[in-house]
Amino acid sequence: MTLRHFLELREYTAAELADMLKLSAELKIAARGNTLTRSLEGKTAAMLFEKPSSRTRVSFQVALAQLGATAIYLRQEDIGGLGNREPIKDLTRVLNGYVDVVIARVFKHAGLIEMTQYAVMPVVNALSDKTHPCQAMADVLTIQEHCGRLEGLTVAYIGDGNNVAVSLAVACSRFGMKLRMASPPGYEAPAFLFDWLVQEGLGDFVAQMHDPRAAVEKADVVYTDTWVSMGQEAEKQQRLEVFSGYQVNAELLTAAKPGVKVMHCLPAYRGLEITDDVIEANAKVIFDQAENRLHFQRGLLAYLFR
Ligand code: CP
Ligand code: NVA
Repeated sequence: MTLRHFLELREYTAAELADMLKLSAELKIAARGNTLTRSLEGKTAAMLFEKPSSRTRVSFQVALAQLGATAIYLRQEDIGGLGNREPIKDLTRVLNGYVDVVIARVFKHAGLIEMTQYAVMPVVNALSDKTHPCQAMADVLTIQEHCGRLEGLTVAYIGDGNNVAVSLAVACSRFGMKLRMASPPGYEAPAFLFDWLVQEGLGDFVAQMHDPRAAVEKADVVYTDTWVSMGQEAEKQQRLEVFSGYQVNAELLTAAKPGVKVMHCLPAYRGLEITDDVIEANAKVIFDQAENRLHFQRGLLAYLFR
């Protein structure tokens, strides 16, 4: 087994991501038919979570259990804060002696990178301030199931150019989907994303704009996320004002293709980035999207331990 981490989708080729997606879809069928193999039997995982989580935590723990592995969940207070109680390089080398994989949700992406410099086991990004790769892969699986294909689709992302948006952009470009992102000025996706897209020759796949209506125009999928990510609570008031014209609501969706699928990584703040009626009208897609977190996490673990 060659050691691979999973910090960013950018570290994987289109073919590798396609393999991961295929494996996730196959294991989803196996799980439903009760024919999963316990391919991680006897392995252990440390799950270090500096921020709250429902979907990511539970889906990883269930996936690990189904594959025969044991998960140890550690909150910020259990480890005394990542890099606070002891240097990350010490904690990582200690964990090297105990566990087979580290799954970490962190405030600072740099902490994950530091872990990979000392880890002899895979380090998986369960969300950082910069990216949320596991989410984006579950999103792609959901789009494939609900739209019947990926290539050639147009996805609109309305809101903050945050961790979820960055990973979604990389995923869309890798799978041949066009992504139009509409964000308020000053809240666009970061420059490193666009630099990477240009470097990979994928610049045409992602467009950043400011007008939500222009982004949604004839889109197959409309996606949104919270306006206030974990760690940005102090900016809440200001953000609610800045983003007020970026709500995904029934009126905005009239510009999209008939039958548009609306997605949200959840947790959702009804009445802010999305209305209650839009969530309820798209509940099948949105909760399939949440379920697919499990199917992708399982596929990812199987892929990393092939
Ligand atoms: N979408 C997502 O990552 O949810 P959690 O924060 O609950 O894990
Ligand atoms: N952008 C959000 C995603 C939550 C799953 C956050 O980072 O809080």
